[in-house]
Amino acid sequence: MSRLTVFLVAIVGLAIVTAGILYATLPTDEGDYPQRSSGAALIGGPFELVMHDGSTVTNETFKGELMLIYFGFTFCPDVCPTELQIMSNALDLVGDDAEQIRPILISIDPERDTAEAMAQYVSHFHPRMTGLTGTADQIAAAARAYRVYYERVEDPGSNAAYTMDHSSIVYLMDKDGQFITHFGPGTKPEKMAETIRSALSNS
Ligand code: NI
Repeated sequence: MSRLTVFLVAIVGLAIVTAGILYATLPTDEGDYPQRSSGAALIGGPFELVMHDGSTVTNETFKGELMLIYFGFTFCPDVCPTELQIMSNALDLVGDDAEQIRPILISIDPERDTAEAMAQYVSHFHPRMTGLTGTADQIAAAARAYRVYYERVEDPGSNAAYTMDHSSIVYLMDKDGQFITHFGPGTKPEKMAETIRSALSNS
């Protein structure tokens, strides 16, 4: 083989390998956006929890609505209120279509976060904000489904006696409860609203 031939064979070989990798990592669903990779599909799933009005709800309850889900707790001094405010501001920016979005706080502190405590807390944020709590087992199952880390940390110096460490991620799920995307801490409400609008127009 000439040098040129060797070169061309190498290029073609590389292209085939690259195409294979791209194919394997392509979103599994049709459409440009929202993108769903096969890995992302591992986030979410069935849950059974208690809503802030005391009723039992499951993932099926919110079918037909996009869910914007955050795991946190009402005693959280700063991170949770900040993120819940960002979610609320994003919904305000979305406007009338926000009726199709269900913003949800799932408590990771079942000991203190009764349905009544959740009702009072979520009322400080968006009118549509939905508080979900439950037994320790129900919450552990929901957190596992969403790959959320949380842990009780003793805090004897404070009135609260303990606090909760937890991951701070906002999940956007489609009308069938499938993962669309997530937002890291401190995402701008404008950016979140834009992503929600795109998701609505693709749903
Ligand atoms: Ni928090």
